[in-house]
Amino acid sequence: MEHAVTPSWASLAYLASGVLFILALRGLSSPSTSRTGNRFGMIGMLIAVVTTLVVHEPTKQQLLSSGVIFVFTDFAAYAQILAAIAIGGAIGWITARKIKMTDMPQLVAAFHSLVGMAAVLVGWAAYLNPEAFGIAASAGFIMPQSRLEMGLGIAIGAITFSGSVIAFLKLAGKMSGAPIMLPGRHVINLATLAAILGLTAYFMTDQSLWVIATVTALAFIIGFLLIIPIGGADMPVVVSMLNSYSGWAAAAMGFTLHNTAMIITGALVGSSGAILSYIMCKAMNRSFISVIAGGFGAEAGPAGEAKEQRPWKRGSAEDAAYMLGEAEKVIIIPGYGMAVSQAQHALREMGDLLKAKGVEVKYAIHPVAGRMPGHMNVLLAEANVPYDEVFELEDINSEFATADVAFIIGANDVVNPAAKTDKASPIYGMPVFDVDKAKQVFFIKRSMGGVGYAGVDNDVFYMPQTTMLLADAKKMVEDINKGLAH
Ligand code: TAP
Repeated sequence: MEHAVTPSWASLAYLASGVLFILALRGLSSPSTSRTGNRFGMIGMLIAVVTTLVVHEPTKQQLLSSGVIFVFTDFAAYAQILAAIAIGGAIGWITARKIKMTDMPQLVAAFHSLVGMAAVLVGWAAYLNPEAFGIAASAGFIMPQSRLEMGLGIAIGAITFSGSVIAFLKLAGKMSGAPIMLPGRHVINLATLAAILGLTAYFMTDQSLWVIATVTALAFIIGFLLIIPIGGADMPVVVSMLNSYSGWAAAAMGFTLHNTAMIITGALVGSSGAILSYIMCKAMNRSFISVIAGGFGAEAGPAGEAKEQRPWKRGSAEDAAYMLGEAEKVIIIPGYGMAVSQAQHALREMGDLLKAKGVEVKYAIHPVAGRMPGHMNVLLAEANVPYDEVFELEDINSEFATADVAFIIGANDVVNPAAKTDKASPIYGMPVFDVDKAKQVFFIKRSMGGVGYAGVDNDVFYMPQTTMLLADAKKMVEDINKGLAH
């Protein structure tokens, strides 16, 4: 099939889906509009897929006895495509229904690996059958510009694939989350990257199989090498960075396939992922380069040693209920533990009980609380916590000085003052909540032994105004609610 010029109605349809994708991103920027945003995205994708299926109608040719070539629609090919969509859609639907909120980051990583692999496969299909993709200058000879797009798309796709597989294994706990440092890794990585770029450029002059095969293999290897040394609290940045890569891989393939919708969508995913990575780096006070260079969290040991030797105070649900009921202003800081115990509904109920007593209740959300961007916002929205009670770090941090109670539920690293004071701490430099400024601190976690994601001890446990509430978060809040209801 020779590459045909896209009909103008299709260009308009692709433009419409591009606009819908932008509206989707806009909607996803706030929990109150995220459902509408999601719907825009789904409609945009439907328009793009249907348009592509109509424009690239699969055909078959038959040579009639009269010598005339008869071209007809290949319905079997349509059936195959629809079957593939149905199988993929069913797997996606079942996975989305079954997945727990705490397992979302690894699911996202797994999905990114599929995008990466799709880019590699499309690139190879185009290489092996350039005529079918309309990128052959003459029989079997691929246009040099298309080779560049193809080489870049395959390389970024392969990096996305192997990087995402490692991120998945680390996040799912199927592989140590600790950074794995190879000696001389910076030199190895730079040399491999240079080889990929050099060979992709050379591919423009020589379309031999060995060139593109080597690019593909090296890109699979560098994806693995890049993510292996990254550990600890940097994983969220890695996931959004891989999200960005998957977008650029799709955009590069959009050029190969002459598909504007793919170019627009890929660029949107690529740039939004890059912006998110930047925002998260800022939230953790990490430079993007140092994240990519890897090795964060490798030296997380010494800060935890003084544990257990310092005095700390344990409280009960009744104590907490009494103090909370007497307070004028309570700031709740949820973290990963709230997600683990699914305490959000009980927490919202606690907020309602407190408000009924005239207490001012606010929720403080750290950008990297939990295990994925927006993790806490999603859970609180699910429990119908009013949006106007939920505040971002920079908007609420100054208010701890006027709060009677800082109520920490399953958060740890995001309230750890070591981030402000201890240069040796792996979370040094990450902005944290100033909970030490509140008159009273309640800290819910299951045991004194458990540490946060970064694996370090927390001075907040030992402050004179801190009361440790050691229990499962949901159970503890339910008990507090019983106390408040009396
Ligand atoms: P963490 O520092 O991981 O602390 C979680 C706390 O919850 C711990 O104190 C843990 O103590 C407690 N906990 C766990 N299960 C519990 C349960 N069932 N009931 C009560 N408490 C429970 O959480 P955080 O403050 O939300 O910080 C997030 C960390 O994860 C940061 O270091 C961040 O960089 C990293 N991270 C974030 C993301 C994104 S994008 N948000 C992605 C990956 C990693 P016990 O074990 O003693 O109960």
